[in-house]
Amino acid sequence: MTEPRVSSIDGKLAEEFAAPSHVDEVRERIAAFARLHAEAGRCVVLISSGGTKVPLESRTVRFLDNFSSGRRGAQSAEYFLETGYAVVFLHRHRSLYPYARTLSSINVLDALEFSGGTQEPDRVVVNPEVLPNMAKVLKKYREVTDAQLLLPIEFSTLSEYLHLLKASAQSLNAIGSKAMFYLAAAVSDFYIPVCDMPEHKIQSSNGPLQLSLKMVPKILSPLVKDWAPQAFVISFKLETDAAILLDKARRALETYRHQAVVANVLDSRRGYVVVVTPTSQHEVVLSKEDVNNQVEIEERIVTNLTAAHERFIEQQVG
Ligand code: PMT
Repeated sequence: MTEPRVSSIDGKLAEEFAAPSHVDEVRERIAAFARLHAEAGRCVVLISSGGTKVPLESRTVRFLDNFSSGRRGAQSAEYFLETGYAVVFLHRHRSLYPYARTLSSINVLDALEFSGGTQEPDRVVVNPEVLPNMAKVLKKYREVTDAQLLLPIEFSTLSEYLHLLKASAQSLNAIGSKAMFYLAAAVSDFYIPVCDMPEHKIQSSNGPLQLSLKMVPKILSPLVKDWAPQAFVISFKLETDAAILLDKARRALETYRHQAVVANVLDSRRGYVVVVTPTSQHEVVLSKEDVNNQVEIEERIVTNLTAAHERFIEQQVG
């Protein structure tokens, strides 16, 4: 296995983005997780999920954020687990989480009741009318956690995301082509370097605020070239203008030379995506019937990409 290389972006990362204090511990946990599952013959996918927060002050009161709920990442994680992958779930704090996402659209207290009426007020059970699938979901969650197949890693800020993704990539490099990166997170393109950030809360008494934001380095480049060069890498591309989407996806493949881009438009992202590779373009669409049957598009995306990953591994070995 090749050692991860140092990239030209490493210096910038160290200087302008504060690393989280537990980054080395995370690196070791992911390395141990990858070893365990590779020895058991499993592939490991790192899923990035949710939006990044960009602070405006060091002692942060205000920050820039984005729309991502983490639903794509959380749902995909479940389908990867069903397919037999072990999952590193690099997700935004409090964004949607595999299995627990079932609870995200309700007030949990509305799903609970006292089992023996007022006679036994301290025993609480789930109301199956509010959460009909809870036993099934809980069973799957327990199976996954008991088998240590899901490793959750949290981030909130852009800096945390960048450092944790780098550490993850360097650890997963040890399993070569058996590692997949599924980068569904919506990462900020703009930031304020730590050296330019005011320490204290920006005062509104100083008048209107003008911000000058720098461009975030494109992390896909060192990930593909230096940190995990043998891995199977999938990026996502989101646009609001469908007319430019496929062109942008193809340009990303030409620039970064990774394996696939999942292209989606903001308003239709739950029912339509295009999986673009250097040699193909595959539309994934949910029909009305699929929607009525509660099929989730992530199931189809994951089926498409795990098959492509299998072919990729065979080519590397063969
Ligand atoms: O979370 P949901 O509400 O379910 O929505 C899902 C989604 C729309 C967020 C998801 O499907 C999606 O499209 N995510 C990518 C959004 C995007 O357009 O990313 P981008 O063009 O800024 O970045 C391209 C790729 O590089 C992405 O895979 C991104 O995760 C990655 N990236 C980008 C910049 C950066 N500095 N580091 C990165 O890793």
